Amino acid sequence: MNLLYSSTQIHTRIAELAEQISKDYQGQSVLLMGVLKGCTIFMSHLLVQLKGDFEIDFLTVSSYGAGTESGELQIKTLPSRSVEAKTVLLVEDIVDSGKTVRFVQELLLKQGAKSVEVVTLIDKETESNVLVPKYVGFTYKEAPFVVGFGFDLNEKFRNLPEVYQLEAEDLKSN
Ligand code: IMP
Ligand code: MG
Repeated sequence: MNLLYSSTQIHTRIAELAEQISKDYQGQSVLLMGVLKGCTIFMSHLLVQLKGDFEIDFLTVSSYGAGTESGELQIKTLPSRSVEAKTVLLVEDIVDSGKTVRFVQELLLKQGAKSVEVVTLIDKETESNVLVPKYVGFTYKEAPFVVGFGFDLNEKFRNLPEVYQLEAEDLKSN
């Protein structure tokens, strides 16, 4: 594994994002909606740095047919409370094609949310992406899969305090 973002880099960038978000939403009540499970570490670090009126909730999304490229998504766990008339900020770990966040955004808007913006720790800025996140921690345009700080490979490595790029040998042994 290669170190991609150190703990210090991550925490500095999250503090900057929190300052920007706190400023932009000043005077508003905001619902942070985490997309489980990748969001957990990023979201908790972001949350404690936000200043203002912030609530949290979570949902789980999964792809139909494991490993397929169908892009067919489904909601596995719904938010615990109604999003009607809420100002929502979706919290995602990484945006690749953007299909996951767009799917959730459309769903929440259909359920009556007032607005749904996206904050992501990493944006892969994939050319064909279907949604451009409003807030981006890091832009990452390389191919290797990333793990650590909430990012997983088959549920492993979420506990690493830094973000790493996987190498071919890591994929073989996991
Ligand atoms: P999208 O729907 O194509 O934007 O894919 C986003 C989802 O794919 C994220 O929620 C992640 O769970 C997963 N993902 C994409 N790239 C990576 C990666 O490099 N490491 C870990 N998860 C990833
Ligand atoms: Mg995810």
